[in-house]
Formats: sequence, C-alpha cells, structure tokens
Amino acid sequence: MGTISASRPKSNLIQARPCRLISTVERKSGETKWRKVFRPSFLACTGIFIGFVFFCNLVVNEPYTYTGPWNVSALMDSIKPAAYSNCTCAPPEDSDRRNRSQVQCPKPAKRPGTETLPQGIVEATTDLELRHLWKRKAKEPVGPQNLLAMAVGLKQKKTVDKIIQKFPAENFTFMLFHYDGKVDGWMDLKWGPQAIHVIAANQTKWWFAKRFLHPDVVAKYNYIFLWDEDLGVEHFHVNRYLGIMQDEGLEISQPALDSKLSEVHHRLTVRQPKVRVHKRLMTGAGSVKSCDNSSTGPPCTGWVEMMAPVFSRAAWRCTWHLIQNDLVHAWGLDFKLGYCAQGVRSEKVGIIDSEYIIHEGIPSLGGESKDKTAKTDSGNSTTLLEGSTTDSEAVDERTEIRLRSKAELHDFSRRWKRAAGSDPDWRDPYEVTIPPEDDHDATGNRVRRR
Ligand SMILES: *[C@@H]1O[C@H](CO)[C@@H](O)[C@H](O)[C@H]1NC(C)=O
Ligand SMILES: *[C@@H]1O[C@H](CO)[C@@H](O)[C@H](O)[C@H]1NC(C)=O
Ligand SMILES: *[C@@H]1O[C@H](CO)[C@@H](O)[C@H](O)[C@H]1NC(C)=O
Ligand SMILES: *[C@@H]1O[C@H](CO)[C@@H](O)[C@H](O)[C@H]1NC(C)=O
Ligand SMILES: *[C@@H]1O[C@H](CO)[C@@H](O)[C@H](O)[C@H]1NC(C)=O
Ligand SMILES: *[C@@H]1O[C@H](CO)[C@@H](O)[C@H](O)[C@H]1NC(C)=O
Ligand SMILES: *[C@@H]1O[C@H](CO)[C@@H](O)[C@H](O)[C@H]1NC(C)=O
Repeated sequence: MGTISASRPKSNLIQARPCRLISTVERKSGETKWRKVFRPSFLACTGIFIGFVFFCNLVVNEPYTYTGPWNVSALMDSIKPAAYSNCTCAPPEDSDRRNRSQVQCPKPAKRPGTETLPQGIVEATTDLELRHLWKRKAKEPVGPQNLLAMAVGLKQKKTVDKIIQKFPAENFTFMLFHYDGKVDGWMDLKWGPQAIHVIAANQTKWWFAKRFLHPDVVAKYNYIFLWDEDLGVEHFHVNRYLGIMQDEGLEISQPALDSKLSEVHHRLTVRQPKVRVHKRLMTGAGSVKSCDNSSTGPPCTGWVEMMAPVFSRAAWRCTWHLIQNDLVHAWGLDFKLGYCAQGVRSEKVGIIDSEYIIHEGIPSLGGESKDKTAKTDSGNSTTLLEGSTTDSEAVDERTEIRLRSKAELHDFSRRWKRAAGSDPDWRDPYEVTIPPEDDHDATGNRVRRR
C-alpha cells in the first residue's frame, strides 16, 4: 500500500482533521486517563494514527498509485513493536466501538497545552502563506502547494533568481534564509516581496531548517525543497520532477548532478544519462567499496546529498526530528535519511536523472573560494560585498568550518550509536554498519574514482 509512516510513537503531535477515527472511548477519571495517555500501547497507536493521517493526506491530496515490487510490510513488521500488531485504527463503521475484546486505538491525546480548550478550536498546524490585511482570499490556490527553502547570500543573487524562476509561484511558496543579513537587495526581483525572508547572521541551511521549518509549520506542503544556492537549473523542470517523484514512489530525492560541469562529491548522485531515475550505484567488481544490486544502504543506495534534497511531507516530518540543534553543518545526516524514507530506503530514496542540475560548488557561507571572481555575479550588489574578507582569511575560515564539520560528523555518529543502543523499542531495519569517516565528505573533496 501507499505510505506507511515510521514516525516514532512518542510523538504527541496530532493533526486530527483529515481522518477522525475513534470517537467513543469511555471517559475515565483524570488520574487513570493520564496513566492511559502514557501507556506504551497508546503511544504506539498514536504513532500509527499519525501515519494514518499522512496516509489519508496522500490519498486525499494526490492520487498515489505506485505499486512497487518491494515488500514494505516485511520491513515495517520488523520495525513495529509487538504492541502495534493488534491495534486496528480503522474499525468498521458499524462495529460496536466499546467492544473491548478487540484492541482499538484509544482516543488521540490532546496536544499538551490544549487540555483546557474545546478541541475543535485547536489549530495544530500552520503554513507560510502571506495574508492580505483586509481582503479575504477569493479562493484557495489551485494546484498542490510545495515549499522551496534556500539559504542565500546576496552574492548569489543571479543564480538564486534563476532557480526560483524555475518554480511556478502558483504552486510554490518561497522562503529565503539570509545568512549575510542583506535582505533589501532581493526586493527588486519580481518574486522578492512575495517570499518569506528570514535573517540570522552566518547560519547554515540546517540551522534555519530546524528553526523555521517545523513539520507543523510546513504541514500544508506536499514537497519541501531544501536547496543550496549554487545550483544550475537549466536542465531542471520542477513539474516533471515532481511527476517522476510520484510515479516512482520516492519520498526523498534529489536531481542528479551533471558530471562534467558539477563539483561532484559522491558517485551515487552523478547523472546516468540513459535513465529517468536511479536508486543505486553499481561499481565494477574489485573496488574496495563495491556497490552492486545487492547493496542495501549508503554509500551505494538509500540516501541523497545535502545540497538539493526534496522531501515528501512525511519524510520531512521524520527528517526534521533527525536534525540536531547544535550540529549545524549536518554532516552524517544524509546517510541516515533512509530511516525517514517511509519504507525501504533503496526504493523510496532516489536520484532523478532526467531532470538534473549543475552543482557549481561555490563555498559561500564562511569565506569565499579563490576563484570567486570567475563564478560569482558581477554587478553592484556584488561589489558592495567584495573585500570584506581577504583570500587568506577566507581560506582559514573554510579550513575551520571543515574541521568543525568533521567534528560534527563524529558527534552525530556517536549520538546515533548511543541512541540506537539505548532505545529498547528500536530495531535497526537495515542493520547497517556506520561508514568510516573518511568515506563521507560533504563539502570539499572530489570523490575518489577508481
Ligand atoms: C511481504 O512480507 C510479509 C511479511 O513478512 C509476507 O507475509 C508477504 O508474503 C510478503 N509479500 C511479498 C510480496 O513478498
Ligand atoms: C495479538 O493477537 C494474537 C492472536 O490474535 C495474540 O496471540 C497476540 O498475543 C496478540 N498480541 C498482542 C501484543 O496483544
Ligand atoms: C465483540 O467481539 C467479539 C470477538 O471479536 C465478538 O465475539 C462479539 O460478538 C463482539 N461483541 C459485540 C457486541 O459486537
Ligand atoms: C501547478 O501544479 C499543477 C499540478 O501539478 C499543474 O497542473 C500546474 O501546471 C502547476 N502550475 C504551474 C504554473 O506549473
Ligand atoms: C559573519 O561572518 C563574517 C565572516 O566571517 C564576519 O565578518 C561577521 O562578523 C559575522 N557576523 C556575525 C554577526 O557574526
Ligand atoms: C544484478 O545485476 C546483474 C547485472 O546487472 C544481473 O545479472 C543480476 O541478475 C542482478 N541480480 C539481482 C539479484 O538483481
Ligand atoms: C553600478 O552602479 C552604477 C551607478 O550607481 C552604474 O553606473 C553601473 O552601470 C552599475 N553597474 C552594474 C554592473 O550594474
């Protein structure tokens, strides 16, 4: 079946509108009610409920017809704690709901903080739409709504403008994170005043995403593009891209990188010109790191790079929880994205080859590369900024950032290991071994070709 959520059962975030499931469970006194709220089976059912809500969303919002050959149920059975198995979230309408011999999901918990409110007034999620001060919106927007969020600096104005031009405003909300604090320079662009602008000096895309793209804030958007600013999009068409993502049942994807013109870090993401989508890398026999059609995880399959990921709503809800507040470079996160894939990662995560991009590889936040003049925009907005850092300062900063990123990769791996070891309810559906550090180099080194 379509999408199964792997949401952690502990989440209490309930988004109740699209499918109301269980309405009558006998009322209990306050104390027992609270014990009930914290019962593991209840939490587990809450997880299922959230999953079901997403499932309903998908079914309602878009025809989700993919029926692939993989066996998601086998995987999900292995993830689910035993308590899940007998919990039926959708009892037949005519069944006696108080028949306690059948295990049912209890009534969803009230969101913490809303206990004193009539539940019908609770707005659990929001969006990033601008509202007119006095006019009511004539009608809701037509197409499905998606979000494009990018961390940008004014130096990349032309490139960013080209990217945003590729996304129809009718179907997209734009959110720009300005790490250089210069927001005025964007207002002369056609879409500038329509975008949401957030300023926080010298922060990374992941810092912004963690703070401003909470799943309840972006719950409206079917797909979330969390992109870098140094991408060439001449060969990218977003409607076709999303069509392919749906056809292929992808929950996390990225456009392939043109191999000739891009700065390439990982071979998995290099464009394979003859196919529409690829989900795994095949290396020749004899490689030390050999990837073939039996590989089940990174670096061969089941992940995308951090420069241009696209998430489905459900995958983003999971991914957001994976981002660590303090690990702002997010190194190592990409290799774990498969756990948010809403199914088997080698099937639900993919690289779309027919709509591909060029990764220009301009280090922007935190100093500039030596060849900046060749690549950055010319023009007055740029000259304002130039001279703020000398080359050697910039190089120093890049080195520091790189060291910091590597340290973060260490921390992240350690936290993951610790969490995996200390959660008795969690089983690794992939049983992967954590890759050695030097395999993973998110911002600088070209991939070692053999
Ligand atoms: C998928 O896995 C489940 C549980 O292991 C099994 O019952 C079912 O037959 C499998 N389906 C296919 C198509 O392999
Ligand atoms: C689920 O139901 C089966 C029989 O229908 C039973 O054997 C099993 O113990 C139940 N599991 C739980 C967790 O209640
Ligand atoms: C309750 O469920 C049991 C077993 O599923 C069934 O035998 C019984 O008839 C049900 N009772 C009612 C009132 O539906
Ligand atoms: C918006 O999305 C819908 C559905 O995917 C599509 O038919 C429509 O062409 C899109 N609008 C634009 C301007 O591309
Ligand atoms: C941001 O980084 C630049 C370059 O390192 C530095 O000059 C500037 O002072 C920083 N701004 C803040 C607010 O930290
Ligand atoms: C793996 O790929 C090889 C060559 O492409 C093919 O011959 C083989 O059947 C594949 N094996 C599986 C299990 O798909
Ligand atoms: C920069 O601004 C000056 C005047 O302020 C103008 O004459 C010049 O053409 C501008 N240069 C570019 C590249 O826009």
